[in-house]
Amino acid sequence: MSQGIVRTAIFPVAGLGTRFLPATKATPKELLPVLDTPLIQYAIDEARAAGVERMIFVSHPSKSAIERHVLDDVDLRATLRKRGKARLDRALKSAAIDEDVHDVIFVMQPEPLGLGHAVLCARDHVLPGPVAVILPDDLILGPKGCLSEMIAAYPTCDSGHLVATMDVPRDEVSSYGVLSVLSRNGAVIKADGMVEKPTADAAPSTFAVVGRYVLDSTIFDALAGQAPGVGGEIQLTDAIAAGVLDIGLSGLTFSAIRFDCGSKQGMLAAELHLAQQDPAFDAVLDKFAKSWSDAIAGQTIPLAHRNGRATASAIAFPSG
Ligand code: G1P
Repeated sequence: MSQGIVRTAIFPVAGLGTRFLPATKATPKELLPVLDTPLIQYAIDEARAAGVERMIFVSHPSKSAIERHVLDDVDLRATLRKRGKARLDRALKSAAIDEDVHDVIFVMQPEPLGLGHAVLCARDHVLPGPVAVILPDDLILGPKGCLSEMIAAYPTCDSGHLVATMDVPRDEVSSYGVLSVLSRNGAVIKADGMVEKPTADAAPSTFAVVGRYVLDSTIFDALAGQAPGVGGEIQLTDAIAAGVLDIGLSGLTFSAIRFDCGSKQGMLAAELHLAQQDPAFDAVLDKFAKSWSDAIAGQTIPLAHRNGRATASAIAFPSG
């Protein structure tokens, strides 16, 4: 087991985002907004709050819009200032990565060879020590950033690899990497293995890994020698599992709320969660909630069923 300071965050952002087509035909999924903020922005803010020095985006040649989003656009801001929009100018400046403060590196993953392969693409650019990996479509919101929480826990967990984990229903484990749990001490789970997308029957536990990792730097050697796994892809999970004995593996049950923004349901839930905390949305949420409570009282269904796809049986109304 080795430890050290986490100075680098890797953002795998090369995926095609097929689950959100046609929205992602021309717009990278990482730029889909939750309210007015793209997913990638939340991930950048989380990495900055955690104190990383270098951010490496493993992207795809067709997704240059990500670069335009994350870097400062001085011309656009000058135009905004000329038009008297100083507040927007300041907001854009603070959202963009300041290259005087953080290193920003883009590397390309031209072929979709898996999450493990994406992380390996960053190898030549990482700073010494352990690295963080952030999957932007796992949106994790709370008073304390998930990566900050992991970095705070890392020295105490006695493992070179630390992953974020949450208990999920057994019928959902096949969507995740799943920990084989040895023991639990408060928020930290000690694991002796990890399996990518197991069936419900074969899953070693219901502790699923979500998209935040702090990984010992030996992960790159492990990835370089890693054979393709589930889906014929180089899996990060397999390379982490390969190091369990020498490097050690722990999971942190983080305190914030995680939204699977790789799915439409997760996106909607994230939007509603954020909207609930902003009085600007009170009127629209109240109106929507009222139409539901009226519907429940009258047992009518207020939704317009687009294309006839939604059916009454898909909507559960409480009885009585
Ligand atoms: C990836 C990882 C998986 C992890 C998941 C978290 O899967 O391979 O181990 O549990 O992210 O979101 P993906 O969702 O890219 O299929």
